[in-house]
Amino acid sequence: MCGIVGYTGKNPAKDILFRNLQKLEYRGYDSAGIALQTADGLQVVRRLGKVANLVQASADTDPTSTCGIAHTRWATHGRPSEANAHPHRSCDNKVAVCHNGIVENYAELRERLVAEGHTFRSETDTEVVAHLVEKYYRGDLLSAARAAVREMIGAFGLVIMHADEPGTIVVARKDSPIVIGQGKDGCYVASDVIAVAEATRDVVVLEDYQFAKLTPEGMSFCNGDGQTIEPEHMRVDWEIDETERGNWPDFMLKEIHEQPRVVRDTLKGRMVNGLLSIDELELTPDELGFIDRVYVIACGTSYHAGLIAKDLIENWARIPTEVEVASEFRYRNPIITPSTLVVAVSQSGETADTLAAIRDARIRGAKVFGITNVIGSRIARESDGVIYTKAKKEVAVASTKSFIGQVVSLTLLAMLLAQSKNRLNTAQIRVLFRELADTAGQIEEILSDTKAIEAAAHDCADAQSALYIGRGLASTVCYEGALKLKEISYVHAEAYAAGEMKHGPIALLHEGFPVVAVATQSPIYDKTLSNIEESKARGAKIVAVATEGDDQIGKYADHVLFIPKVRDAFMPITASVVLQLFARAIAVERGCDVDQPRNLAKSVTVE
Ligand code: M6R
Repeated sequence: MCGIVGYTGKNPAKDILFRNLQKLEYRGYDSAGIALQTADGLQVVRRLGKVANLVQASADTDPTSTCGIAHTRWATHGRPSEANAHPHRSCDNKVAVCHNGIVENYAELRERLVAEGHTFRSETDTEVVAHLVEKYYRGDLLSAARAAVREMIGAFGLVIMHADEPGTIVVARKDSPIVIGQGKDGCYVASDVIAVAEATRDVVVLEDYQFAKLTPEGMSFCNGDGQTIEPEHMRVDWEIDETERGNWPDFMLKEIHEQPRVVRDTLKGRMVNGLLSIDELELTPDELGFIDRVYVIACGTSYHAGLIAKDLIENWARIPTEVEVASEFRYRNPIITPSTLVVAVSQSGETADTLAAIRDARIRGAKVFGITNVIGSRIARESDGVIYTKAKKEVAVASTKSFIGQVVSLTLLAMLLAQSKNRLNTAQIRVLFRELADTAGQIEEILSDTKAIEAAAHDCADAQSALYIGRGLASTVCYEGALKLKEISYVHAEAYAAGEMKHGPIALLHEGFPVVAVATQSPIYDKTLSNIEESKARGAKIVAVATEGDDQIGKYADHVLFIPKVRDAFMPITASVVLQLFARAIAVERGCDVDQPRNLAKSVTVE
């Protein structure tokens, strides 16, 4: 949430900052701003909207400046506006600050600073940081930043400059990601490794209450007391071009098409000598056998992956499994014992609520296992064990390939738990594994011909609302399908277990109202068919996701989107791809920005 970049070195800073800021636009795009060190002090430009607006507005800024910071915002405190855009400055305009996070005690700090004579120019929580640094500045920016941070409660990734210290950027963090690296030409800082990796593969992920001072000559680190520290370095081992859109019209479509590869990579090395292996769990077979309750904690799409896992774990391993949204779990009093396994699912590995929930679960004595896509992320680092989903960098705000990576990883976990409980034998596991691997080819089949999906989308593109219905695992696919539609096309969409329709939602139906029904082959197929009939009888336009070879469904549905025949347990993997494509096609028809939907950000690092 919010992207921060900084550079100090030998080269002109402006273009470097813009290039790197653009890579972070997925973190928020309400407004953007830049501050450059110049011979005449700090030069600041801010604009409402995307980085492109800022680039245009900055044409006249100093092209020779070699030190600067920049920010792309996802608004928390204060509406999106130029005045609320970062960087924020002190009264004397000598301090500039970019911030990611929330200063929770900002109101109290602001009141005090105002009483001390400071004048505020924005509605943001961040501005207090600029004034605090101004207040404590005695010729050393690092000391002033440490003093300011001592007063702050909340989450922050901060990059700070002072006009009297040319070439210096001070960095601080608590609970918001900050990555730093030294390239050949200077030092870089950002809130995501992708904005540093082009310069260097050797990066430092700052820990809470660690500070860094960057100059053209190098970087140094200290703790809150000012004592020098040597932080851990991390090696970035992926390719830069994985984050490029290439010839695809948008990242979302590119990422949807990467899903067969994600399935294959996630499964690679998991079957060793005929046995399922997830060494990263760091639990012995005995410890695994001891688990008698599972909590899956997650948000958004990752939560939906958890709903699928519940079905599989309970079915195969017979272990009671709860799936909870992290923002609720963290404030409840969940029943956790030493035999509880908590599984935290998060693409970014930095979602604030999920992170807080696992911290709480560990204090309560649970073993915490992370499933994330980002190597070295907070959730990965704070879990007892971690599976990486192998989706590689996901740029589109709407999760697609990371979801498939999560579902495949959770399926493996369910199989492992079943194996350790002796509920599935080795031969059964092998059959399941082979069928799971087959879903890669089935997704390819779906992707090879999307005409029916596009036709259905064209027919539904003008709708204001849609209902998604399904039973059993199909209902979980519907939750995710409805989320995809609303987040990228702004069509109001709700998902219901199909049997619930007649308890309320059916009242919404009228002539032409789209009902997306996931009616794939399962023991309860006929029940879903009845619910489709009930909707059809009330004039609904039916878009059915069905299994190839189903010759009944055409009688009820206006559009049938077929998926290859697959075991019900693995149907969410293929059926979800159809609904991702359907949502995207509607968003494209409606002229929406598929990759950067309004009001959203890829990583939610605030509560
Ligand atoms: O990074 P996480 O998986 O923890 O993120 C959770 C949600 O914010 C995320 O899945 C969100 O719902 C996506 N925009 C869905 O497409």
